Amino acid sequence: MEIAFLAERPQAIPSLAAWFIAEWPEYYGKRARADVEQDFRECLNTQRLPIGLVAYDDGAPCGVIVLRESAMTDLPQYRPGLGAFYVAASHRNRGIGAQLVRAGIGVARGLGHSAIYATTGRAGKIFERSGGQDLGTILHRGQALTLYRWEAAAEHFGDARGLRL
Ligand SMILES: CC(C)(COP(=O)(O)OP(=O)(O)OC[C@H]1O[C@@H](n2cnc3c(N)ncnc32)[C@H](O)[C@@H]1OP(=O)(O)O)[C@@H](O)C(=O)NCCC(=O)NCCS
Repeated sequence: MEIAFLAERPQAIPSLAAWFIAEWPEYYGKRARADVEQDFRECLNTQRLPIGLVAYDDGAPCGVIVLRESAMTDLPQYRPGLGAFYVAASHRNRGIGAQLVRAGIGVARGLGHSAIYATTGRAGKIFERSGGQDLGTILHRGQALTLYRWEAAAEHFGDARGLRL
């Protein structure tokens, strides 16, 4: 498994769009596939946000995370943020999600950000294990989400520093 900038693997975009449409039909399913793919094409950056990172295994994409302007568009003060976090069902529970989180934080740190945020309903344990601090629960469009913050302190980023991104 390796993690690369999506900018270096844009051919992964159709798979990513198909994953998101299947996983979040209430949001992505209402949109044209080309629009969902366009969301990812906007993440083909390496030095400015949004920055897509893609996990690859055996030449095929198996996961994604995006370092973007804010944790959620409704919460612009929590910036930058990690989002669009997904690992293919066939590849879960092997630590790929945790590696994507660490890679995203490492990229943010490399760009000079001192803190990174994310919200989640399901991935809290992964965020906590990677050094995320639980800032509490927020209600977002009727859904309870936990807000996490990572300080860009060196001790949390040992693994990310080793990535060849
Ligand atoms: C959330 C998600 C990205 C996690 O991806 P993942 O690659 O399975 O994540 P990890 O493997 O790092 O961690 C998942 C679990 O596997 C365990 N795990 C980690 N490394 C492992 C390994 N080498 N061997 C066995 N289990 C392992 C972890 O302990 C963790 O369990 P826990 O969270 O219950 O404590 C993935 O489940 C997913 O895409 N879900 C659907 C979309 C979604 O919910 N996205 C998040 C929105 S914020």
